[in-house]
Amino acid sequence: MKIYFVGAGPGDPKLITLRGKELIEDAELIVYAGSLVNPKVLSSAKGKKVDSFGMTLEQTTRLIVDAWKQGLRVVRLHSGDPTIYSAVREQILAIQPYGIDYEIVPGVSSVFASAAALGQQLTSETLVITRPSGKTLAEDQLVELSNLKPTMAIFLGVDKIDTIMQRVRYAPETPTSVVYHASWDDQVIITGTVSDIATKAREAGITKSAIILIGDELTFEGERRSYLYSPKT
Ligand SMILES: C[S@@+](CC[C@H](N)C(=O)[O-])C[C@H]1O[C@@H](n2cnc3c(N)ncnc32)[C@H](O)[C@@H]1O
Repeated sequence: MKIYFVGAGPGDPKLITLRGKELIEDAELIVYAGSLVNPKVLSSAKGKKVDSFGMTLEQTTRLIVDAWKQGLRVVRLHSGDPTIYSAVREQILAIQPYGIDYEIVPGVSSVFASAAALGQQLTSETLVITRPSGKTLAEDQLVELSNLKPTMAIFLGVDKIDTIMQRVRYAPETPTSVVYHASWDDQVIITGTVSDIATKAREAGITKSAIILIGDELTFEGERRSYLYSPKT
């Protein structure tokens, strides 16, 4: 029996894959990753649910391995997609010595739910997914990456939005948005520029559970046409 690392999607319970939903419904143990997994996604679960917030890798591994040894069906549930800032690889490595097979079931990352909420596209060229340094990352590359002027999606950083906006090398008028709880019932969208988004986010009281999106792509008004849909001569 496998351990399933499942993407719960961004929040809206309809934004989970059919496979993810099926696995959640069948699971006898679901270890889910804290408050960013919307309780509505778990409402069809019949098995035991354990919030992994505050638990160490050793503790979650023990829980999962013990359940697996008892022949239980186990789902490790992450918000969004499990391959984005969910430390999935270390969890896989931790169960491998027990000879346990695994599968990753993708999910809709909150970066995509945020772009959808804004009604904008993330690329005609390059999207960078990144995060600022902090408790769990010693050094970041925000300055170097922003020099290239991609569309930038910043996870895990809205509490540091003032410093981030001072550090990035975009023009002050570059379109910038903050999306809190994308796809949840209490979703909040804040739009502005590099120069004013920090004040707007602070005034709205957004300090967590949000994505910051920066880049000219975020005001694509159609003056530029894509090659894809242009008449070919
Ligand atoms: C530990 S990471 C998990 C990311 C997740 N694996 C994903 O693909 O969306 C948590 C961060 O993801 C972002 N996040 C997760 N869900 C969100 C949502 N519904 N709306 C906006 N940001 C979200 C926030 O930046 C949050 O601090």
